[in-house]
Amino acid sequence: SKAEPFKVMISGAPASGKGTQCEMIVQKFGLVHVSTGDLLRAEVSAATEIGNRAKEYMNSGRLVPDDIVTAMVKTRLSVKDAKEKGWLLDGYPRSSAQAKSLEELKIRPDVCIILEVPDEVLIDRCVGRRLDPVTGRIYHITHFPPENEEIKARLVIRPDDTEEKVKSRLQIYKQNMEATSSTYADILRKIDGNRPKEVVFKEIEALLLRVKKEKEENESSG
Ligand code: AP5
Repeated sequence: SKAEPFKVMISGAPASGKGTQCEMIVQKFGLVHVSTGDLLRAEVSAATEIGNRAKEYMNSGRLVPDDIVTAMVKTRLSVKDAKEKGWLLDGYPRSSAQAKSLEELKIRPDVCIILEVPDEVLIDRCVGRRLDPVTGRIYHITHFPPENEEIKARLVIRPDDTEEKVKSRLQIYKQNMEATSSTYADILRKIDGNRPKEVVFKEIEALLLRVKKEKEENESSG
């Protein structure tokens, strides 16, 4: 019989470490990483119609309109790889309309992780964040400096990572987080994200192994 794919959702404030943890989760569990932030940034770089519409919202730290993001997520989750390998949804849903859309599409994760990090730490993380446009890897000028000079020279700063914009992104996150926590109350797992990234990952790994095992046991017995 064909096993149901494993489905994970990860949520948390800007710079709570979603992208960093997703890199490690994907390596361990082989899930398809679907990040609305990454998908949107790719559309912006390629100057597509979606990218051009999304750009001003993203650069000012506001949410992109629901219809654009929902269509993107729906399309990406229905691609064969995501259906077969399972998925890791990062940065969606971010409003009650988005949560409602997923429920209507009957798309529900097996577990929803929320990374919790205090506000003052989030600001430092955003301001020091650097991205490698070649590998997509996430660095931090003091916490995770690049491995060599060649990588260092090509790192870029996100336009929405200024202190002022981070504060407004954080406000928006707080206004909307209720939608996620109420929709997924029964499968919500809060994780303390204010620890070294390997320590945070150990806890996520243990959680996911447990949830995956329970899911497999339920399927074989049911
Ligand atoms: P998105 O890309 O999703 O941004 P975000 O939620 O603000 O999250 P970030 O990417 O800023 O942070 P992260 O949690 O991934 O942290 P990271 O691992 O990089 O969205 C961007 C924009 O797109 C939105 O503002 C919006 O405009 C639009 N958008 C996206 N989804 C949307 C939606 N559903 N609806 C509408 N609009 C949408 O880590 C951050 C830094 O901290 C790094 O430097 C990292 O090295 C460091 N770090 C990570 N972990 C640790 C640790 N444990 N200890 C110390 N430092 C750490």
